[in-house]
Amino acid sequence: MCGIVGAVAQRNVVPILIEGLKRLEYRGYDSAGVAVIDQACCLARTRSVGKVRELEGRLDAHMEGATGIAHTRWATHGRPATENAHPHICRKTVALVHNGIIENHEALRRAQMQLGYEFTSQTDTEVIVHEIYRRLEETADLLAAVRAALPSLRGAYALGVITNREPGRLVAARRGSPLVIGIGIGEHFIASDVAALLPVTQRFMFLEDGDIADITRDAVTVYDAQGARVERPVRHSELSADAVARGEYRHYMLKEINEQPRAIADTLENRIGVDQVYAEAFGPAAAGLFADIEAVQIVACGTSYHAGLVGRYWFEGLANLPCAAEVASEFRYRKPRVAPHTLFVTLSQSGETADTLAALAYARELGFARTLTICNAPESSLVRGSDLVLMTHAGPEIGVASTKAFTTQLVALLLLVTALGRSRGLTAEGEARIVHLLRSLPGQIEQILGLDTAVQAWVPFFTNKQHALFLGRGTQYPVAMEGALKLKEISYIHAEAYPAGELKHGPLALVDADMPVVAVAPNNTLLEKLQSNLQEVRARGGELFVFADSDNDIHEDPRTHVISVPPVDDLMAPIVYAVLLQLLAYHVAVSRGADVDQPRNLAKSVTVE
Ligand code: F6R
Repeated sequence: MCGIVGAVAQRNVVPILIEGLKRLEYRGYDSAGVAVIDQACCLARTRSVGKVRELEGRLDAHMEGATGIAHTRWATHGRPATENAHPHICRKTVALVHNGIIENHEALRRAQMQLGYEFTSQTDTEVIVHEIYRRLEETADLLAAVRAALPSLRGAYALGVITNREPGRLVAARRGSPLVIGIGIGEHFIASDVAALLPVTQRFMFLEDGDIADITRDAVTVYDAQGARVERPVRHSELSADAVARGEYRHYMLKEINEQPRAIADTLENRIGVDQVYAEAFGPAAAGLFADIEAVQIVACGTSYHAGLVGRYWFEGLANLPCAAEVASEFRYRKPRVAPHTLFVTLSQSGETADTLAALAYARELGFARTLTICNAPESSLVRGSDLVLMTHAGPEIGVASTKAFTTQLVALLLLVTALGRSRGLTAEGEARIVHLLRSLPGQIEQILGLDTAVQAWVPFFTNKQHALFLGRGTQYPVAMEGALKLKEISYIHAEAYPAGELKHGPLALVDADMPVVAVAPNNTLLEKLQSNLQEVRARGGELFVFADSDNDIHEDPRTHVISVPPVDDLMAPIVYAVLLQLLAYHVAVSRGADVDQPRNLAKSVTVE
């Protein structure tokens, strides 16, 4: 949700800022902008609607400066327009980029207008730059001005601020939105995400909530929420700049779909032995803490929530633990009854999703026994705020549509289910079986990716459709939900998922020749039931597209298309079949000319409510 980059260096920082923006574009791409303090000590700014390449096209070749900030926007307050793009500037003196939402912006705007401040945008952000300018007039010190201005803001922010009155200084602050400082040699940077800065550094300092950082070429000084000077550790990132490059692939999403065998293998590495899941995988304290757990509450958003729904079947079926799964935006506003000894589990690719973070904070108030996060972003707010952490090692996920994060979350959930199930009836043989299945999973996914051509053959049946239905039963119901979400978010085809048994309670009325019906049909105890449901569709003239286990008795006919999937154990089926639905959504979106990696109206990391 909006990406920020900033730099203080001895060299011209414009190329660094633009490269950083390109790497942050997954966070928002409604508009973009850059501002630097130029050689004449003036603020020079360029902004543009659309993607970073549009901004790049507009840049004056002479725009240069050693201190600068830049921003890629996902619009909240104020439509995508040049005047709403960041950086915002007050009286040619202070420039600012912001990620987050200022909730009291209307009241501040009214007060500032009375003081004679002119507004050039409809954003909630512009009040911050005026507030800082006002304090700069009083203090003549950018750090003091930012510090004095922040208490008047209600809401979430990550900020980068510069002024031409102090050309070699960049002040950054965060509350509720992520911000990281990149440590260079004789130069320093800020960004919403380490990915933006990998071409210039691999050393990072992660700001805590409430921190303000005073940054020059030679020093980074951090103050905590109480104003005390604090040391934040500098960490070395294992990521290379190439890890976030698209390489030979046409889209990040395709690259990330194909990375799943490796991502799953990496997530399993050092977590499983020959026949068992290592308890240490969850941290040294885990074994003791797990012994007391009597129930599980999963909370997440979007794709991560779908992984949680699959997890619910596993916690109850394998670990004998009552489990509920809920979307974070609902959970955080409800008054749930918390059973004693309930483990609160969050799932998140980014670790920065605002609703999930708020739900975690709420869980603490509600008195959950322990919190655990399954997350893909080291050092993210969820990771830092949870008692226990199980990282998915999917690597950076750049495509807005989540793929490898989902399948690695499922793998991580199975590890957790196994570790918790041990003292609740899961036998050593049962555990060994799960471990063996997990070990062969990367190879199985590799095989499934070989069905890509068969999936592509279905694409013409979907390209011009307006709607699609997805059906599944048991653990395949959340997989169908995930397939529908993938299709709608990147191809803009309206898609809904139903547990197949629900068809006759309403959705069957939608079935006609224009409504392709996709079904996931692995070999399991519900297969016969699913087959009857598919008959119901057929009998009403619907056209079926079935991913079916090759051992299944589902035959092709002119209105039943079948892709035969190599046999897979029921436990692994949600992971394997999800990959096929990802491929389907991807190819359909490409055939419709959609912007697969950056679908309209969406952003990768939803750091605002
Ligand atoms: C869909 C998608 C979103 C995210 C959701 C949660 O493809 O990516 O639905 O899953 O915004 O994000 P995380 O997992 O970062 O908390």
